[in-house]
Amino acid sequence: MPDAPCTVVAATDAGAVDAAADAIRRGGLVGLPTETVYGLAGDALSVRAVERIFAVKNRPSTHPLILHLADASWLADWADTVCEAAAVLARECWPGPLTLLLPAAAHVPRSPLGGRTTAAFRVPAHDVARSVIRSVSRPVAAPSANRFGRVSPTTAAHVCVDLGSDVDLVLDGGPSVLGIESTIVDLSGRSLQVLRHGALPVEDLEALLGVPIERASGSSRAPGMLASHYAPSCTVRLADGAEEAASILSEVTAHGARARILPHHRVASVYAATLYEELRRCDRDGLDTVIAVLPPDQGLGRAIRDRLEKAAAPR
Ligand code: TXA
Ligand code: MG
Repeated sequence: MPDAPCTVVAATDAGAVDAAADAIRRGGLVGLPTETVYGLAGDALSVRAVERIFAVKNRPSTHPLILHLADASWLADWADTVCEAAAVLARECWPGPLTLLLPAAAHVPRSPLGGRTTAAFRVPAHDVARSVIRSVSRPVAAPSANRFGRVSPTTAAHVCVDLGSDVDLVLDGGPSVLGIESTIVDLSGRSLQVLRHGALPVEDLEALLGVPIERASGSSRAPGMLASHYAPSCTVRLADGAEEAASILSEVTAHGARARILPHHRVASVYAATLYEELRRCDRDGLDTVIAVLPPDQGLGRAIRDRLEKAAAPR
């Protein structure tokens, strides 16, 4: 944990949004609240700001960053082509927890794209985030504001604990209401593919488009979708139900481990909203092991399972 203090400003304070936008325009990094998780926001067109984002996160520079826009009308300026399916999803789902992967316009710098020719775009459904981006008046690159491989932050305090003074300013816009990252859909190829399950269930997108969206296999299409990710320091064990969780708990505690079953909720949106805070709480409480009950593999449950499986993967 960094020792240096971290500057947090309530997003409702007079001038807070302007201060954050100024910092980004000057090449600084801001902890930005969104409805999914907090982002580490910087000017997507500034090579120095983008380099700093990668450095602060300890993230390989080949893992591209999502470009956040203030509203859907900006997409035409930064994507090379906007196909019909992308236009429908942007119209129906933005602002919201959906990221669209499209061919990037030629004038988009390659550094936030990790050298690729496609760019991931999202319009966050958080008034504070959109006000800041609108004031910056250019795309804002914002990966989740955690160090590489760790649990994403859902509060301003999480950002401070993780990044300390490596971030210039954290705007406190309250806890992220959805609590899990955006769904990423790749529309740059011949078929539509989901690259990351997230807060917007793929079934809802398929219903909107009237066509199936393929599940991308392998990790090559979205670098950063590594087997081990979203991991707390304690060991994560997975269970298919409450009974199995209880039996794992007695097994590990019999061996002297400090452990507990992660609070989980039958309503997937509540499970998602509390998941990262609960994983972090296990570390704060000094646990050795946490046991997580997997939700059904459908809707939002898919995203929760994905994060839990990655948190439990060998490191
Ligand atoms: O909900 C979210 O999406 C949050 C908030 C802050 O907006 N952001 C977020 O960013 O989760 P990040 O960087 O932690 O995860 C974005 C994922 C990465 O795995 C990255 O590799 C992938 O999106 N990605 C971004 N741009 C891409 C591109 N051009 N091609 C392929 N994958 C891309
Ligand atoms: Mg992330």
